[in-house]
Amino acid sequence: MAVQTTNPYLEGPFAPVAEEVTATDLAVVGALPPELDGRYLRIGPNPMEGTVGDPAAHHWFTGDGMVHGIRLRDGRAEWYRNRWVRSTRVSTLLGEEPAPGERHGAMDTVNTNIIGHAGTTLALVEAGARPVELTEELATVRHTDLGGTLPNGFTAHPKRDPLTGELHAVAYHWSVPHLQYIVVGTDGRVRKVVEVPVDDGPMVHDMSLTERFAVVYDLPVTFDLESAASGASFPYAWAPGRAARLGVLPREGTAADIRWFEVEPCYVFHPLNAYDEPGADGGEGRMVLHVIRHERTFDADRSGPADVTPTLWRWTVDLDRGTVTEEQLDDRAQEFPRVAESRVGRPARYGWAAELGFTGPGDFGAGSNIIRHDLAAGTVDRHPAGASRQVGEAVAIARDGAPADAEDDAWIMSLAHDRDTDRGELVVWAADAPGAEPVARVPLPARVPFGFHGSWIPTAR
Ligand SMILES: [Fe+2]
Repeated sequence: MAVQTTNPYLEGPFAPVAEEVTATDLAVVGALPPELDGRYLRIGPNPMEGTVGDPAAHHWFTGDGMVHGIRLRDGRAEWYRNRWVRSTRVSTLLGEEPAPGERHGAMDTVNTNIIGHAGTTLALVEAGARPVELTEELATVRHTDLGGTLPNGFTAHPKRDPLTGELHAVAYHWSVPHLQYIVVGTDGRVRKVVEVPVDDGPMVHDMSLTERFAVVYDLPVTFDLESAASGASFPYAWAPGRAARLGVLPREGTAADIRWFEVEPCYVFHPLNAYDEPGADGGEGRMVLHVIRHERTFDADRSGPADVTPTLWRWTVDLDRGTVTEEQLDDRAQEFPRVAESRVGRPARYGWAAELGFTGPGDFGAGSNIIRHDLAAGTVDRHPAGASRQVGEAVAIARDGAPADAEDDAWIMSLAHDRDTDRGELVVWAADAPGAEPVARVPLPARVPFGFHGSWIPTAR
């Protein structure tokens, strides 16, 4: 493939791969915990060879989606596969029939997150397209409206309530109705939709969930008609002077129940977690949000989220007084934050994030550690990947038999890019041994372009 020299999201660790690969019985460095029985799946943009056009106009968020998966069982890495998610565009370019399923909106590229839910594997994206169901081996089955229950598009960032198993989501699309709060039941069908009125068409990448509330991030990155008219693939831009606010909606409430709280202008792609602190004496008390805050984004840099250094903040929403207290907790460059799945919406002691090099646009993936925040102690540890490796999002996988409240009785897993070999590696650490080398690494036969999000999907038992 010709080297494209004018867009950092097409180069180095971001560079797309040209082929779908299947490899079996991969060599393991170290020892994979035998209890890990399932698939680690991660998705990201991988524009098809020769189709980008003007590299300078390419937006990282809109590249054709590619899923990378590693199947683990009995201490072995049984297979690695990478597959394009079949958008209409990808199918056409590959000479295949389009995947079935009615589409919503003009774009059906899905490239941002991949989850298991209700026995299916779903690839997800924001801004209007529907989920894409994949087989266990990552072939596209269909674009899905969740059995006729999903009115429009979905989101890349549903939150699974660990008690109910339901998915809570905030979906948006540039057209009306712009924004919806959606709850998907454990049967994989939408059981609740609330239309949330907002102005200006904000980009709403993620949401927060507590035991009482769903939180809508209405922040100053909005639909930009000028960009859309000029053909930009992702026509959202920083809106100087526009307010930033949080919409707090009781989980079983209606649009009339939403209350809005202003924060300083910023953008949050990803909250780490959120939880309630109920008040005494009948008051509503507070809600605490940990977020990775960008002071602005899609301003000077319209090809990716690299205007400023993203850092960890705590927002404390006083629901009785109507105020938000904002505090920076850590000034290291970091993104892709996660807590243990069992702590989503509840107080978490630990949070994990990918440490970034972040000297400027295109240096998004230059870190080589997973940061472990001890939010109770206010301290930071690291899970090192090694000097030549650049890590992405980490997931925490509870060990077999781990007590529900033992967040670090877990394995930490991430995909890394090794600059020395220009290949991907699956890396596994012991969550209770920060600072220690990985317990296992699985070098992969291909580069895994630095991408977005993923999940550990255990084998159903
Ligand atoms: Fe995201």
